[in-house]
Amino acid sequence: MALFKKNKIKNSNYISSKESRNISKENRRITNEIEKRRNRKNIPREEYITQMKDPNNVVEFDDLHTYFFTDIGTVKAVDGVSFNIPTGKTVGVVGESGCGKSVTSLSLMQLVQRPQGQIVGGSIRFNTGEEVYDIAKTPTSEMQKLRGNMISMIFQEPMTSLNPVFRIGVQLDEVTQLHNMDMTKDKVKQRSLEMLELVGIANSEGVYKMYPHELSGGMRQRVMIAMGLACSPRLIIADEPTTALDVTIQAQILELLRSLKDKINSSIMLITHDLGVIAGMADFVVVMYAGRVVERGTVEEIFKNPSHPYTIGLMNSKPTVGKKVDRLYSIPGKVPNPVNMPNHCYFYDRCDKRMDVCKSKYPEEIYLTPTHGVSCFLYDEKKGELENGR
Ligand SMILES: Nc1ncnc2c1ncn2[C@@H]1O[C@H](COP(=O)(O)OP(=O)(O)OP(=O)(O)O)[C@@H](O)[C@H]1O
Ligand code: SF4
Ligand SMILES: [Mg+2]
Repeated sequence: MALFKKNKIKNSNYISSKESRNISKENRRITNEIEKRRNRKNIPREEYITQMKDPNNVVEFDDLHTYFFTDIGTVKAVDGVSFNIPTGKTVGVVGESGCGKSVTSLSLMQLVQRPQGQIVGGSIRFNTGEEVYDIAKTPTSEMQKLRGNMISMIFQEPMTSLNPVFRIGVQLDEVTQLHNMDMTKDKVKQRSLEMLELVGIANSEGVYKMYPHELSGGMRQRVMIAMGLACSPRLIIADEPTTALDVTIQAQILELLRSLKDKINSSIMLITHDLGVIAGMADFVVVMYAGRVVERGTVEEIFKNPSHPYTIGLMNSKPTVGKKVDRLYSIPGKVPNPVNMPNHCYFYDRCDKRMDVCKSKYPEEIYLTPTHGVSCFLYDEKKGELENGR
């Protein structure tokens, strides 16, 4: 990372136009260098074909760093994220707005806004079942084969992802055809209708002929899910898939995702800020804060024994049916400036359990069980005990 060590700004909220110009110049130098490396012709396969640490995983994020080189400095959107997505399981990624959830998933799809957004360190190992790609190093041409074929993404607002001037059938057929080049037209249509039925659309022939604006928000999201499933992906990324929908439709779409998961045996990376959604859907939970994972574990571990003060705060800010509260709890304070992260625990300013040691360095991840990890000095004292007790 010596590449951008010079690219630091003063610890102030204002920068002069001269400083901004210098930063832009330095940014261009850095991003040109990365782009040049990326755009080499005939990149040898050994550079990006690798091995999984555990073959039962479909994805392994390993110390991923994704930065944006902006005119006000380097935004460390994802700053050392590691977690796994086991085959056939749902992993919920949760955290406040801006903590890097979407940038993590966009890095996995190689859809981070380039050239200012770049994966600058770490690996994203993706297991196709036959080969393992390190997506951080995979050339764009190879990535196009994985995207859509092996990994699909369901976005928050289905209206913006569907083309308003084409009928649903045309759009669905196009995706089906793309993944099944040798299928006849009739077979493609039959497959599209089957996909619509699979996502719970009873009047599939009718919907096939409709335009997106003729459908409700919930129906459009079902169509998007059908498109996402057309290629039987190994991984579905659902980024806030229900936020734009009203509550009853939200519940129906989540139920649909849950039932589909069993039918198609895909893994799901479910991104949300709603802990209720996570509790109902996920097998594993990853809690992110300011571009890093602060806690991870099975859904039972995170809900029965939330350990990081931030996770505990998130749990307290979740409204509960039947519990009378005067006003909703929200974690006081704000997230540090992403261009100027402190060199100690990022949660320090907001933490009601902070100690002197928390200002000394960023806390290491400590394992409370083989699956439950937490990055917090509160457990540092227990580290010895835990290791001896294992
Ligand atoms: N194109 C971009 N240029 C500069 N900074 C960006 C860009 N995209 C994202 N960021 C920054 O990266 C950080 C992480 O953003 P991200 O979209 O991943 O957050 P998120 O956790 O998905 O939030 P939300 O819950 O609001 O969707 C934020 O500080 C954001 O401002
Ligand atoms: S390391 Fe310290 S400041 Fe950070 S969350 Fe833990 S107790 Fe709070
Ligand atoms: Mg997001």
